[in-house]
Amino acid sequence: MELQLHLAGGGYSVFLGKGLLFGLSDFIHLNRKVFLVTDDGVPEKWVQAVQAQCPDCHLETVPQGEGAKSFPVYERLCSRLLELRFTRRDLILALGGGVIGDLAGFAAATYLRGIDFVNIPTTTLSQIDSSIGGKVAINLDGVKNCVGAFYQPQAVLVDSEVLSTLPARHYANGLVEAVKAGLIYDPELFGLFEQGGAAAHLDEIVLRSLRVKKAVVEQDEKESGLRRILNFGHTIGHGVESVYGLSGLYHGEAVAVGMLPMIESPALRERTERVLRGLGINPRMPYDPEAVYEVMTRDKKTHGGQITIVTVAELGKACLEDVPMEALKSRLCGKGLEG
Ligand SMILES: NC(=O)c1ccc[n+]([C@@H]2O[C@H](COP(=O)([O-])OP(=O)(O)OC[C@H]3O[C@@H](n4cnc5c(N)ncnc54)[C@H](O)[C@@H]3O)[C@@H](O)[C@H]2O)c1
Ligand SMILES: [Zn+2]
Repeated sequence: MELQLHLAGGGYSVFLGKGLLFGLSDFIHLNRKVFLVTDDGVPEKWVQAVQAQCPDCHLETVPQGEGAKSFPVYERLCSRLLELRFTRRDLILALGGGVIGDLAGFAAATYLRGIDFVNIPTTTLSQIDSSIGGKVAINLDGVKNCVGAFYQPQAVLVDSEVLSTLPARHYANGLVEAVKAGLIYDPELFGLFEQGGAAAHLDEIVLRSLRVKKAVVEQDEKESGLRRILNFGHTIGHGVESVYGLSGLYHGEAVAVGMLPMIESPALRERTERVLRGLGINPRMPYDPEAVYEVMTRDKKTHGGQITIVTVAELGKACLEDVPMEALKSRLCGKGLEG
């Protein structure tokens, strides 16, 4: 299955299929130097499968976790590329979750002002969301994605087989982005979750989520308007993630907490809560509203005391609204969520 993205900065394809990791040359030109970037949490068998198909492969394994999206790790990658005399005709291959895609993609965007990049996402979050859209970045001084670029890959290869080794909590974490995609754009996608057993519909869930992201990103590649609907759940979510991420809360789990207060219909809120709980996620996790609000006032998306929020009044329809920061307070920590 192939999904083509048509963007001003050049188009590319997302290929989806079970086992395509074992036939990479059907999709990418591998007879050149390949810089394979992965982390030490990605199982050996997937790394070896890729390595075995690249005649001239240079493996770079970084420590797993958000900490790898940093200047020191980025610099090490660029130094290795230089040392190995990589040219623009060579290839950077990312094999991992969103961390690896963001890090390797940023190295690809900037080394020699841009060399070929192919992404093989291996988590639900990266397959559903982060691998398409062209955002690549590293963090700086505790600010997430502070330094980055819009840089499109040559191709994205989505193989559902690699998810067989993903821990359950990471698996559910990524699916929150699919629930989000359903809420803002695709009622049928949301419906798949209501039918229960996300695993049974996983291929369709991934495909439909990617279609939502494709539709939105193609209309607004650089996030000047419509693309901001993808931030649904992320305004409060990022605040919660900043405060509790270091204690081990995952991105999707924080976004789940941020979604309910932005759903205007009590009935839809209830349905969403049921879907999220079905995934093993608690969207009503208690948190400190003062601390979360404080972080949100520093959000890069605030402008002159105002912030753009994304609300959903009806399943599949998102709405962008400029509100004063103060107005967000009433949506924090379950306030106004009764019923
Ligand atoms: N660029 C974007 O548009 C975008 C969008 C959303 C999120 N992100 C970024 O994505 C990152 C989060 O991504 P993530 O949730 O994929 O986390 P992650 O990349 O940290 O991966 C989660 C964990 O799973 C392990 N892992 C990966 N694949 C595995 C597999 N197949 N089997 C077993 N273990 C595996 C990794 O080693 C890691 O420990 C954040 O840095 C976030 O900022 C980017
Ligand atoms: Zn997200």
